[in-house]
Amino acid sequence: MTKPTFYITTPIYYPNDKLHIGHAYSTTVTDTIARYKRMRGYDVRFLTGTDEHGQKIQKKALSAGKEPLPYVDGIVAGIKALWQRLNVSYDDFIRTTEERHRVVVQKIFTRLLEQDDIYLGHYEGWYCTPCESYWTETQLKDGACPECGGSVELVREESYFFRMGKYADRLIRYYEEHPEFIQPVSRKTEMLNNFLLPGLEDLSVSRMTFDWGIPVPQNPKHVVYVWIDALSSYITSLGYLSEDEALRGQFARFWPADVHVMAKEIVRFHTIYWPIILMALDLPLPKQIFAHGWVLTKDGKMSKSKGNVVDPNTLIDRYGSDALRYFLLRDIPFGQDGVFTLESLMERLNFDLANDLGNLLQRTLAMVERFCEGRVPARGEVKEPEIAFAAMLKDVVAEVEDKMDERYDFNGALAAIWKLVRHGNKYIDEMAPWALNKAGDTDRLATVMYTVLDAIRAVSVLLQPFMPDTSPQIWQQLGIEPGEVTSWDNAKKAGILPSGHTIAKGESLFPRLDVEKEIGELNLLMNPSSSSPEEASQNNEKAKADTKVEGVTSLIAIDDFTKVELRVAQVISASKVEKADKLLILQLDVGDHQRQVVSGIAKYYTPESLIGQKVVLVANLQPVKLRGVESHGMILAASTEDQLVLVTVAKDIANGAKVK
Ligand code: MSP
Repeated sequence: MTKPTFYITTPIYYPNDKLHIGHAYSTTVTDTIARYKRMRGYDVRFLTGTDEHGQKIQKKALSAGKEPLPYVDGIVAGIKALWQRLNVSYDDFIRTTEERHRVVVQKIFTRLLEQDDIYLGHYEGWYCTPCESYWTETQLKDGACPECGGSVELVREESYFFRMGKYADRLIRYYEEHPEFIQPVSRKTEMLNNFLLPGLEDLSVSRMTFDWGIPVPQNPKHVVYVWIDALSSYITSLGYLSEDEALRGQFARFWPADVHVMAKEIVRFHTIYWPIILMALDLPLPKQIFAHGWVLTKDGKMSKSKGNVVDPNTLIDRYGSDALRYFLLRDIPFGQDGVFTLESLMERLNFDLANDLGNLLQRTLAMVERFCEGRVPARGEVKEPEIAFAAMLKDVVAEVEDKMDERYDFNGALAAIWKLVRHGNKYIDEMAPWALNKAGDTDRLATVMYTVLDAIRAVSVLLQPFMPDTSPQIWQQLGIEPGEVTSWDNAKKAGILPSGHTIAKGESLFPRLDVEKEIGELNLLMNPSSSSPEEASQNNEKAKADTKVEGVTSLIAIDDFTKVELRVAQVISASKVEKADKLLILQLDVGDHQRQVVSGIAKYYTPESLIGQKVVLVANLQPVKLRGVESHGMILAASTEDQLVLVTVAKDIANGAKVK
């Protein structure tokens, strides 16, 4: 029997910068669905990739002194490495700069031009580069981009246009006939009221003001609009219009997509432009567009300029990828916004992972070692508590399936799995195996220990889509090989675990964390420049205190150290910052340039005493504003509880000299 297919995609991300936990969230949820569907017997195809063309990327590359392609190559390598660390099981990674994509986009454009869905005209409107979007005068909000609030530029140029309006009625009908098409439904109402019902204007689908894109074959001074280019990747990657017959077969097999996953800000492109392009190409529409919410930080959406970007690598380095996956899937209700805080991360790691799951495995295996000679005992007579446990297991599996099948309610599915985990711990407390051991009741002891081990097996099976690293580690400790015993269909069957073999108790999967210490260190690691001076100094104090306890802070590689650019700088002038009694503004001569640094040394140095001093400057810190004053770097100082001494150079040396 052939397996049913399931085609799922993430957005293809812009490789203009490192990705943050928001992007990691989208990819993690998509991966979890893909893994779940595979386990449920689907032939899954999971696409992710990068959207590499457009003015924004060209400008970014230019400012980095690079050609666009080598520039994005580096970032794409970082993105792929991140997905590997997060255990993302994609089947294909499409880059829009690939030949297989370019030729097909050109074929698509040509076909649409030939059938007069696209025509050549003139465009005048407002363009927002960060959003790669055009707006009409009336759509602007206070003269700025209604999407990101950024500045827009007036553009008038020859342009190709897509006759979107021609398909609007058909699209509205499609929405009506397919209530499941846009999820959550609130987005559908928004699309209808804001865009479709007022009437669709023709969409400008080419640009002439830059050349980093796919050339329009008939008129190569135009490049194809990035959104037409990007959306097409969902079909070019499958083999649509490919010369290769096998690839065309693959397209026929997997298209239409089952779900396109994304966050809410790009729903418009996926529920209006994309279906209309597909209608014009006579292709079926994707079955579902699923728009999740945003991962926010306390001060709103993450952005480089706010300095509140959370790098998933930092969290994976410290806690492992499954801990991050668990947190994202458990803490943010799918479809809604969720606020990422270090406190909520710590709670999840300490309570759910360390106290509940980690502890269940550790204590159970420790008791098997102590009471059962380290072997899985054979189950004896089953009594009421075991029957209740088995019934709960069935219910939990049904609940997980119900939550995952169409709603993708990860949070709900994990909450259901945790019912089992918590019940496991409660069952141990109530059955008190230590007392059974003491009383010499070996039959009952064997049944109790077996029942917990078997429940842990069931938990490990259910956890696979969510925490793909953890399940195999549990199997190893339980002494079982993956196979029938770890199949999804057997998860709900109590008593499947074989007995008689030796277990292999290992390290605790999720050690308990010292919350204060973690938060202090994470704050410093993640955003040293985003904290207020007060916070930064509190964090510093905290980190210093930790240093005293352990002797050293965490070790770093030499590569990490060489990232810090230290230079000799001479103080040319110094003055106080108004209403900030700790801060001084310093003007520094760094040899080849001058710069301003704000430093918290006012309690220890008068401005006059600093003039002429040669200090050590951290030259490549991101600029920050302290009390409204720009600071471009930081100067080094040694300090104790009540003393602070600037680091100066002992002999005269040229300003700007490197310190290594
Ligand atoms: N290149 C376009 C997508 C083209 S798809 C044919 C793009 N790229 S992007 O790099 O800006 O990625 C946007 C997507 O990244 C969002 O739709 C969402 O999936 C994910 N996220 C980016 N920031 C996010 C949060 N703060 N929270 C949740 N998801 C986030 O748009």
